[in-house]
Amino acid sequence: NGNQTAAVKNFDLWIRNDFKQLNTQLEEIYFAQSDRSDVNCQTSVTKPLTNELTEAGRTYIAALLKEGNTDSGFDAGFDLLGNVGLYMAACRRHDITEPSRETKSPLIEASALAMQIGASLGVTPRFSTSHLTTHNSAINGLYKSFTSLEDEILFLDYNTRGILAYMRTADALLKILPMGISHPLTGDMLHVAKQGLQDVIKYNDILFNELNVERFFHCVRPYYKPYRVGQNEYRGANAGDFAGINVIDLLLGVCQGDDPYYSQILVDKFLFMLPEEQATLRDCMRRESLLDSMLSVTPEQISSPWFKENGALFLEVLELHGYAASQHHNQLVERFIAQMAKNESQQAYEKVTASGPPLPVLLRSLEKLKDLRCATERDDIPSRYAEIQLLKARIA
Ligand code: HEM
Repeated sequence: NGNQTAAVKNFDLWIRNDFKQLNTQLEEIYFAQSDRSDVNCQTSVTKPLTNELTEAGRTYIAALLKEGNTDSGFDAGFDLLGNVGLYMAACRRHDITEPSRETKSPLIEASALAMQIGASLGVTPRFSTSHLTTHNSAINGLYKSFTSLEDEILFLDYNTRGILAYMRTADALLKILPMGISHPLTGDMLHVAKQGLQDVIKYNDILFNELNVERFFHCVRPYYKPYRVGQNEYRGANAGDFAGINVIDLLLGVCQGDDPYYSQILVDKFLFMLPEEQATLRDCMRRESLLDSMLSVTPEQISSPWFKENGALFLEVLELHGYAASQHHNQLVERFIAQMAKNESQQAYEKVTASGPPLPVLLRSLEKLKDLRCATERDDIPSRYAEIQLLKARIA
Protein backbone atom coordinates (compact mmCIF):
# COMPACT_ATOMS: atom_id res chain seq x y z
CA ASN A 1 0.00 0.00 0.00
CA GLY A 2 1.66 3.22 -1.25
CA ASN A 3 -0.16 5.30 1.38
CA GLN A 4 1.54 3.65 4.34
CA THR A 5 4.10 5.58 6.39
CA ALA A 6 7.03 3.71 7.95
CA ALA A 7 5.31 3.67 11.37
CA VAL A 8 2.16 2.16 9.83
CA LYS A 9 4.17 -0.46 7.94
CA ASN A 10 6.19 -1.48 10.98
CA PHE A 11 3.09 -1.94 13.07
CA ASP A 12 1.41 -3.94 10.29
CA LEU A 13 4.44 -6.20 9.97
CA TRP A 14 4.44 -6.76 13.72
CA ILE A 15 0.72 -7.67 13.67
CA ARG A 16 1.31 -10.13 10.84
CA ASN A 17 4.32 -11.77 12.48
CA ASP A 18 5.40 -11.48 16.14
CA PHE A 19 1.92 -10.58 17.41
CA LYS A 20 0.45 -13.64 15.73
CA GLN A 21 3.22 -15.83 17.05
CA LEU A 22 2.80 -14.59 20.64
CA ASN A 23 -0.94 -15.23 20.54
CA THR A 24 -0.39 -18.68 19.09
CA GLN A 25 2.12 -19.57 21.81
CA LEU A 26 -0.25 -18.36 24.51
CA GLU A 27 -3.12 -20.35 22.99
CA GLU A 28 -1.06 -23.52 23.07
CA ILE A 29 -0.32 -22.91 26.76
CA TYR A 30 -3.98 -22.38 27.72
CA PHE A 31 -5.09 -25.29 25.55
CA ALA A 32 -2.72 -27.68 27.30
CA GLN A 33 -4.14 -26.75 30.74
CA SER A 34 -6.63 -29.01 32.46
CA ASP A 35 -8.92 -25.96 32.66
CA ARG A 36 -8.70 -24.36 29.24
CA SER A 37 -10.74 -21.36 30.34
CA ASP A 38 -8.32 -20.43 33.10
CA VAL A 39 -6.51 -17.55 31.41
CA ASN A 40 -3.84 -16.02 33.61
CA CYS A 41 -1.38 -13.54 32.10
CA GLN A 42 0.74 -13.45 35.25
CA THR A 43 2.21 -16.96 35.50
CA SER A 44 5.92 -17.54 34.98
CA VAL A 45 5.24 -18.99 31.51
CA THR A 46 2.66 -16.52 30.28
CA LYS A 47 4.01 -13.30 31.76
CA PRO A 48 7.05 -12.85 29.47
CA LEU A 49 4.80 -13.40 26.45
CA THR A 50 1.95 -11.12 27.53
CA ASN A 51 4.44 -8.44 28.60
CA GLU A 52 6.10 -8.53 25.23
CA LEU A 53 2.75 -8.35 23.48
CA THR A 54 1.56 -5.39 25.54
CA GLU A 55 4.79 -3.41 25.41
CA ALA A 56 5.75 -3.98 21.78
CA GLY A 57 2.23 -3.00 20.73
CA ARG A 58 2.36 0.10 22.92
CA THR A 59 5.67 1.18 21.37
CA TYR A 60 4.41 0.87 17.79
CA ILE A 61 1.21 2.70 18.65
CA ALA A 62 3.05 5.51 20.48
CA ALA A 63 5.10 6.07 17.30
CA LEU A 64 1.88 6.29 15.30
CA LEU A 65 0.35 8.80 17.70
CA LYS A 66 3.46 10.91 17.53
CA GLU A 67 3.30 10.90 13.75
CA GLY A 68 -0.17 12.49 13.94
CA ASN A 69 -2.61 12.85 11.05
CA THR A 70 -1.13 11.72 7.77
CA ASP A 71 -4.32 12.01 5.72
CA SER A 72 -3.64 8.75 3.94
CA GLY A 73 -7.23 8.16 2.87
CA PHE A 74 -10.05 5.94 4.09
CA ASP A 75 -8.59 2.55 3.25
CA ALA A 76 -5.28 3.16 5.01
CA GLY A 77 -7.03 4.64 8.07
CA PHE A 78 -9.50 1.77 8.27
CA ASP A 79 -6.74 -0.79 7.96
CA LEU A 80 -4.76 0.88 10.76
CA LEU A 81 -7.87 0.95 12.96
CA GLY A 82 -8.13 -2.79 12.38
CA ASN A 83 -4.55 -3.35 13.52
CA VAL A 84 -5.02 -1.28 16.68
CA GLY A 85 -8.25 -3.21 17.26
CA LEU A 86 -6.60 -6.62 16.88
CA TYR A 87 -4.05 -5.56 19.48
CA MET A 88 -6.72 -4.34 21.91
CA ALA A 89 -8.81 -7.49 21.40
CA ALA A 90 -5.79 -9.69 22.08
CA CYS A 91 -5.08 -7.76 25.29
CA ARG A 92 -8.68 -8.46 26.32
CA ARG A 93 -8.36 -12.11 25.37
CA HIS A 94 -5.28 -12.60 27.54
CA ASP A 95 -6.96 -10.77 30.43
CA ILE A 96 -4.41 -7.93 30.29
CA THR A 97 -7.52 -5.75 30.19
CA GLU A 98 -10.99 -6.70 31.43
CA PRO A 99 -13.86 -4.23 31.03
CA SER A 100 -15.72 -5.08 34.25
CA ARG A 101 -12.55 -4.52 36.25
CA GLU A 102 -11.91 -1.08 34.78
CA THR A 103 -13.72 2.19 34.19
CA LYS A 104 -11.58 3.05 31.21
CA SER A 105 -9.17 1.15 29.04
CA PRO A 106 -5.65 0.97 30.48
CA LEU A 107 -4.42 0.97 26.87
CA ILE A 108 -4.27 4.76 26.76
CA GLU A 109 -2.34 5.23 23.52
CA ALA A 110 -4.25 2.54 21.63
CA SER A 111 -7.57 4.02 22.79
CA ALA A 112 -6.54 7.51 21.68
CA LEU A 113 -5.53 6.30 18.23
CA ALA A 114 -8.59 4.07 17.80
CA MET A 115 -11.02 6.81 18.83
CA GLN A 116 -9.38 9.36 16.56
CA ILE A 117 -9.54 7.08 13.55
CA GLY A 118 -12.96 5.58 14.29
CA ALA A 119 -14.62 8.95 14.82
CA SER A 120 -13.02 10.45 11.72
CA LEU A 121 -14.08 7.56 9.50
CA GLY A 122 -17.61 7.19 10.92
CA VAL A 123 -17.18 3.68 12.32
CA THR A 124 -16.95 2.14 15.77
CA PRO A 125 -13.44 2.63 17.28
CA ARG A 126 -12.79 -1.11 17.61
CA PHE A 127 -11.92 -3.84 15.15
CA SER A 128 -14.93 -5.11 13.30
CA THR A 129 -15.57 -8.24 11.29
CA SER A 130 -14.64 -6.71 7.96
CA HIS A 131 -11.09 -6.11 9.26
CA LEU A 132 -10.64 -9.88 9.39
CA THR A 133 -12.83 -10.88 6.46
CA THR A 134 -13.73 -8.73 3.45
CA HIS A 135 -11.15 -5.98 4.14
CA ASN A 136 -8.22 -8.09 5.24
CA SER A 137 -5.45 -7.77 2.66
CA ALA A 138 -3.18 -10.71 2.04
CA ILE A 139 0.57 -10.36 1.64
CA ASN A 140 2.15 -13.18 -0.27
CA GLY A 141 -0.93 -15.33 0.27
CA LEU A 142 -1.39 -14.71 4.00
CA TYR A 143 -4.06 -12.44 5.46
CA LYS A 144 -4.17 -11.17 9.04
CA SER A 145 -5.36 -13.37 11.87
CA PHE A 146 -4.86 -13.48 15.64
CA THR A 147 -3.12 -16.82 15.56
CA SER A 148 -1.77 -19.24 12.99
CA LEU A 149 -4.04 -22.02 14.27
CA GLU A 150 -5.69 -23.86 11.42
CA ASP A 151 -9.12 -23.61 13.02
CA GLU A 152 -8.93 -19.83 13.11
CA ILE A 153 -8.05 -19.80 9.41
CA LEU A 154 -10.85 -22.23 8.60
CA PHE A 155 -13.29 -20.07 10.59
CA LEU A 156 -12.18 -16.89 8.82
CA ASP A 157 -12.14 -18.47 5.35
CA TYR A 158 -15.73 -19.68 5.73
CA ASN A 159 -17.02 -16.59 7.49
CA THR A 160 -15.67 -14.55 4.59
CA ARG A 161 -17.17 -16.91 2.02
CA GLY A 162 -20.53 -16.79 3.82
CA ILE A 163 -20.46 -12.99 3.99
CA LEU A 164 -19.53 -12.66 0.30
CA ALA A 165 -22.30 -15.06 -0.67
CA TYR A 166 -24.90 -13.12 1.36
CA MET A 167 -23.61 -9.96 -0.33
CA ARG A 168 -24.21 -11.48 -3.78
CA THR A 169 -27.80 -12.24 -2.79
CA ALA A 170 -28.33 -8.75 -1.35
CA ASP A 171 -26.92 -7.12 -4.51
CA ALA A 172 -29.21 -9.18 -6.73
CA LEU A 173 -32.29 -8.25 -4.68
CA LEU A 174 -31.31 -4.56 -4.70
CA LYS A 175 -31.17 -4.64 -8.49
CA ILE A 176 -34.83 -5.68 -8.61
CA LEU A 177 -35.96 -2.43 -6.97
CA PRO A 178 -35.62 -0.13 -9.98
CA MET A 179 -36.82 -2.84 -12.40
CA GLY A 180 -39.92 -3.93 -10.49
CA ILE A 181 -41.29 -7.37 -9.67
CA SER A 182 -42.96 -7.88 -13.05
CA HIS A 183 -39.88 -7.06 -15.16
CA PRO A 184 -39.01 -9.89 -17.57
CA LEU A 185 -35.46 -10.03 -16.13
CA THR A 186 -36.39 -9.97 -12.46
CA GLY A 187 -36.37 -13.75 -12.56
CA ASP A 188 -32.67 -13.60 -13.47
CA MET A 189 -31.99 -11.61 -10.30
CA LEU A 190 -34.00 -14.03 -8.20
CA HIS A 191 -31.92 -16.88 -9.60
CA VAL A 192 -28.71 -15.11 -8.56
CA ALA A 193 -30.23 -14.48 -5.12
CA LYS A 194 -30.98 -18.19 -4.80
CA GLN A 195 -27.47 -19.21 -5.78
CA GLY A 196 -25.96 -16.87 -3.18
CA LEU A 197 -28.07 -18.42 -0.41
CA GLN A 198 -27.32 -21.95 -1.60
CA ASP A 199 -23.63 -21.03 -1.24
CA VAL A 200 -24.20 -19.70 2.30
CA ILE A 201 -25.86 -23.02 3.18
CA LYS A 202 -22.95 -24.98 1.72
CA TYR A 203 -20.39 -22.95 3.70
CA ASN A 204 -22.39 -23.23 6.93
CA ASP A 205 -22.38 -26.99 6.44
CA ILE A 206 -18.61 -27.06 6.01
CA LEU A 207 -18.09 -25.01 9.18
CA PHE A 208 -20.45 -27.27 11.09
CA ASN A 209 -18.65 -30.42 9.96
CA GLU A 210 -15.03 -29.32 9.90
CA LEU A 211 -14.43 -26.69 12.57
CA ASN A 212 -13.01 -28.15 15.76
CA VAL A 213 -15.39 -27.28 18.60
CA GLU A 214 -12.79 -27.13 21.37
CA ARG A 215 -10.34 -25.05 19.34
CA PHE A 216 -13.04 -22.65 18.19
CA PHE A 217 -14.52 -22.15 21.64
CA HIS A 218 -11.23 -21.85 23.52
CA CYS A 219 -8.78 -20.36 21.01
CA VAL A 220 -10.77 -18.39 18.42
CA ARG A 221 -13.97 -17.07 19.93
CA PRO A 222 -12.31 -15.35 22.95
CA TYR A 223 -10.76 -12.75 20.63
CA TYR A 224 -14.29 -11.57 19.81
CA LYS A 225 -15.16 -10.42 23.32
CA PRO A 226 -16.30 -6.88 24.11
CA TYR A 227 -13.56 -4.49 25.21
CA ARG A 228 -13.24 -0.88 26.26
CA VAL A 229 -11.87 1.86 24.07
CA GLY A 230 -11.40 4.93 26.22
CA GLN A 231 -14.32 4.88 28.66
CA ASN A 232 -16.85 3.03 26.55
CA GLU A 233 -17.22 -0.69 26.22
CA TYR A 234 -17.91 -1.92 22.68
CA ARG A 235 -19.61 -5.21 21.95
CA GLY A 236 -17.68 -7.90 20.14
CA ALA A 237 -17.55 -8.42 16.41
CA ASN A 238 -19.58 -11.15 14.74
CA ALA A 239 -19.91 -12.47 11.20
CA GLY A 240 -23.21 -10.63 10.89
CA ASP A 241 -21.68 -7.16 10.89
CA PHE A 242 -22.31 -6.36 7.25
CA ALA A 243 -25.36 -4.81 5.61
CA GLY A 244 -26.23 -7.64 3.21
CA ILE A 245 -28.01 -9.92 5.66
CA ASN A 246 -30.35 -7.09 6.74
CA VAL A 247 -30.81 -5.91 3.16
CA ILE A 248 -32.09 -9.42 2.43
CA ASP A 249 -34.36 -9.43 5.52
CA LEU A 250 -35.87 -6.06 4.61
CA LEU A 251 -36.21 -6.56 0.86
CA LEU A 252 -37.72 -10.02 1.23
CA GLY A 253 -40.00 -8.47 3.85
CA VAL A 254 -39.47 -11.03 6.62
CA CYS A 255 -38.11 -8.38 8.99
CA GLN A 256 -39.42 -4.83 9.16
CA GLY A 257 -37.81 -1.54 10.08
CA ASP A 258 -40.79 -0.49 12.19
CA ASP A 259 -40.53 -3.57 14.43
CA PRO A 260 -38.75 -2.21 17.53
CA TYR A 261 -36.98 -5.53 18.16
CA TYR A 262 -35.51 -5.56 14.67
CA SER A 263 -34.78 -1.83 14.38
CA GLN A 264 -32.88 -2.05 17.68
CA ILE A 265 -30.58 -4.61 16.06
CA LEU A 266 -30.01 -2.27 13.13
CA VAL A 267 -29.41 0.78 15.32
CA ASP A 268 -26.82 -1.11 17.37
CA LYS A 269 -25.11 -2.41 14.28
CA PHE A 270 -24.67 0.63 12.02
CA LEU A 271 -21.26 1.74 13.25
CA PHE A 272 -19.87 -1.80 12.99
CA MET A 273 -20.30 -1.56 9.23
CA LEU A 274 -18.34 0.31 6.59
CA PRO A 275 -19.81 3.72 5.73
CA GLU A 276 -20.93 2.64 2.24
CA GLU A 277 -22.74 -0.33 3.79
CA GLN A 278 -24.40 1.95 6.32
CA ALA A 279 -25.70 4.05 3.42
CA THR A 280 -27.08 0.99 1.58
CA LEU A 281 -28.88 -0.26 4.66
CA ARG A 282 -30.37 3.17 5.45
CA ASP A 283 -31.69 3.34 1.92
CA CYS A 284 -33.22 -0.13 2.21
CA MET A 285 -35.02 0.79 5.41
CA ARG A 286 -37.10 3.25 3.37
CA ARG A 287 -38.13 0.81 0.63
CA GLU A 288 -41.21 -1.32 0.11
CA SER A 289 -40.38 -5.02 0.44
CA LEU A 290 -40.75 -7.45 -2.43
CA LEU A 291 -43.29 -9.39 -0.36
CA ASP A 292 -45.48 -6.31 -0.01
CA SER A 293 -45.06 -5.55 -3.73
CA MET A 294 -46.11 -9.10 -4.61
CA LEU A 295 -49.16 -8.88 -2.38
CA SER A 296 -50.32 -5.56 -3.75
CA VAL A 297 -50.73 -6.55 -7.41
CA THR A 298 -54.17 -6.29 -8.99
CA PRO A 299 -56.38 -9.41 -9.29
CA GLU A 300 -55.84 -9.52 -13.09
CA GLN A 301 -52.06 -9.64 -12.63
CA ILE A 302 -52.33 -12.61 -10.27
CA SER A 303 -53.28 -14.83 -13.20
CA SER A 304 -50.46 -13.58 -15.45
CA PRO A 305 -47.43 -15.79 -16.13
CA TRP A 306 -44.89 -13.33 -14.68
CA PHE A 307 -46.64 -13.42 -11.31
CA LYS A 308 -46.60 -17.20 -11.12
CA GLU A 309 -42.97 -17.44 -12.27
CA ASN A 310 -41.44 -14.62 -10.24
CA GLY A 311 -43.66 -15.41 -7.30
CA ALA A 312 -42.52 -19.04 -7.22
CA LEU A 313 -38.87 -17.98 -7.44
CA PHE A 314 -39.40 -15.40 -4.72
CA LEU A 315 -40.82 -18.09 -2.44
CA GLU A 316 -37.78 -20.27 -3.10
CA VAL A 317 -35.50 -17.39 -2.09
CA LEU A 318 -37.54 -16.94 1.10
CA GLU A 319 -37.28 -20.62 1.87
CA LEU A 320 -33.49 -20.65 1.44
CA HIS A 321 -33.03 -17.54 3.59
CA GLY A 322 -35.01 -19.21 6.36
CA TYR A 323 -33.06 -22.43 5.98
CA ALA A 324 -29.67 -20.66 6.27
CA ALA A 325 -30.91 -18.82 9.37
CA SER A 326 -32.04 -22.04 11.04
CA GLN A 327 -28.71 -23.63 10.18
CA HIS A 328 -26.89 -20.73 11.87
CA HIS A 329 -29.07 -21.03 14.94
CA ASN A 330 -29.65 -24.77 15.32
CA GLN A 331 -26.24 -25.91 14.16
CA LEU A 332 -23.53 -23.25 14.47
CA VAL A 333 -24.70 -21.32 17.54
CA GLU A 334 -25.95 -24.50 19.21
CA ARG A 335 -22.88 -26.64 18.65
CA PHE A 336 -20.09 -24.11 18.96
CA ILE A 337 -21.50 -21.81 21.66
CA ALA A 338 -24.54 -23.08 23.56
CA GLN A 339 -23.34 -26.67 24.09
CA MET A 340 -19.78 -25.64 24.93
CA ALA A 341 -20.90 -22.93 27.33
CA LYS A 342 -22.71 -25.55 29.42
CA ASN A 343 -19.37 -26.95 30.55
CA GLU A 344 -18.11 -23.59 31.74
CA SER A 345 -17.93 -22.27 35.28
CA GLN A 346 -20.64 -19.74 36.17
CA GLN A 347 -18.17 -16.88 35.87
CA ALA A 348 -16.88 -17.89 32.43
CA TYR A 349 -20.44 -18.76 31.30
CA GLU A 350 -21.56 -15.19 31.88
CA LYS A 351 -18.87 -13.87 29.56
CA VAL A 352 -19.40 -16.17 26.62
CA THR A 353 -21.27 -13.89 24.24
CA ALA A 354 -19.72 -11.32 21.94
CA SER A 355 -22.58 -8.88 22.31
CA GLY A 356 -22.53 -8.74 26.10
CA PRO A 357 -25.94 -10.05 27.28
CA PRO A 358 -25.99 -13.34 29.20
CA LEU A 359 -26.17 -16.35 26.91
CA PRO A 360 -29.81 -17.38 27.58
CA VAL A 361 -30.94 -13.82 26.76
CA LEU A 362 -28.84 -13.76 23.60
CA LEU A 363 -30.13 -17.18 22.51
CA ARG A 364 -33.76 -16.14 22.93
CA SER A 365 -33.10 -13.02 20.90
CA LEU A 366 -31.31 -14.96 18.14
CA GLU A 367 -34.19 -17.44 18.09
CA LYS A 368 -36.64 -14.61 17.42
CA LEU A 369 -34.52 -13.47 14.51
CA LYS A 370 -34.43 -17.00 13.15
CA ASP A 371 -38.21 -17.31 13.46
CA LEU A 372 -38.72 -14.03 11.63
CA ARG A 373 -36.46 -15.24 8.83
CA CYS A 374 -38.25 -18.59 8.69
CA ALA A 375 -41.62 -16.80 8.87
CA THR A 376 -42.60 -19.20 11.63
CA GLU A 377 -46.19 -19.01 12.83
CA ARG A 378 -45.84 -16.98 16.03
CA ASP A 379 -48.19 -14.30 17.30
CA ASP A 380 -45.78 -12.73 19.79
CA ILE A 381 -43.52 -11.36 17.03
CA PRO A 382 -44.49 -9.75 13.71
CA SER A 383 -43.70 -12.84 11.64
CA ARG A 384 -44.96 -12.73 8.04
CA TYR A 385 -46.37 -16.26 8.19
CA ALA A 386 -49.90 -15.24 7.21
CA GLU A 387 -48.83 -13.04 4.29
CA ILE A 388 -46.55 -15.73 2.92
CA GLN A 389 -49.35 -18.31 3.12
CA LEU A 390 -51.53 -15.87 1.18
CA LEU A 391 -48.87 -15.44 -1.50
CA LYS A 392 -48.44 -19.22 -1.75
CA ALA A 393 -52.17 -19.62 -2.23
CA ARG A 394 -52.21 -16.99 -4.98
CA ILE A 395 -49.38 -18.66 -6.83
CA ALA A 396 -50.68 -22.21 -6.54
C1 HEM B 1 -24.33 -13.46 15.09
C2 HEM B 1 -22.28 -17.64 16.30
C3 HEM B 1 -20.78 -18.19 11.73
C4 HEM B 1 -23.80 -14.69 10.42
C5 HEM B 1 -23.85 -14.51 15.82
C6 HEM B 1 -23.94 -14.64 17.25
C7 HEM B 1 -23.40 -15.81 17.59
C8 HEM B 1 -22.92 -16.44 16.38
C9 HEM B 1 -23.29 -16.41 18.99
C10 HEM B 1 -24.56 -13.60 18.18
C11 HEM B 1 -23.60 -12.51 18.49
C12 HEM B 1 -22.93 -12.67 19.82
O1 HEM B 1 -22.06 -13.54 20.00
O2 HEM B 1 -23.25 -11.95 20.73
C13 HEM B 1 -21.67 -18.14 15.16
C14 HEM B 1 -20.83 -19.30 15.13
C15 HEM B 1 -20.40 -19.46 13.85
C16 HEM B 1 -20.98 -18.39 13.07
C17 HEM B 1 -20.52 -20.17 16.32
C18 HEM B 1 -19.49 -20.49 13.24
C19 HEM B 1 -18.75 -21.31 13.92
C20 HEM B 1 -21.49 -17.31 10.96
C21 HEM B 1 -21.42 -17.24 9.53
C22 HEM B 1 -22.28 -16.25 9.14
C23 HEM B 1 -22.88 -15.70 10.35
C24 HEM B 1 -20.56 -18.09 8.60
C25 HEM B 1 -22.56 -15.83 7.73
C26 HEM B 1 -22.23 -14.67 7.26
C27 HEM B 1 -24.21 -14.07 11.58
C28 HEM B 1 -25.13 -12.95 11.61
C29 HEM B 1 -25.22 -12.56 12.95
C30 HEM B 1 -24.43 -13.49 13.71
C31 HEM B 1 -25.83 -12.33 10.40
C32 HEM B 1 -25.97 -11.35 13.54
C33 HEM B 1 -27.30 -11.74 14.02
C34 HEM B 1 -28.18 -12.03 12.83
O3 HEM B 1 -28.47 -11.12 12.04
O4 HEM B 1 -28.54 -13.23 12.71
N1 HEM B 1 -23.23 -15.62 15.32
N2 HEM B 1 -21.75 -17.62 13.90
N3 HEM B 1 -22.36 -16.38 11.43
N4 HEM B 1 -23.81 -14.38 12.85
FE1 HEM B 1 -22.82 -16.01 13.38
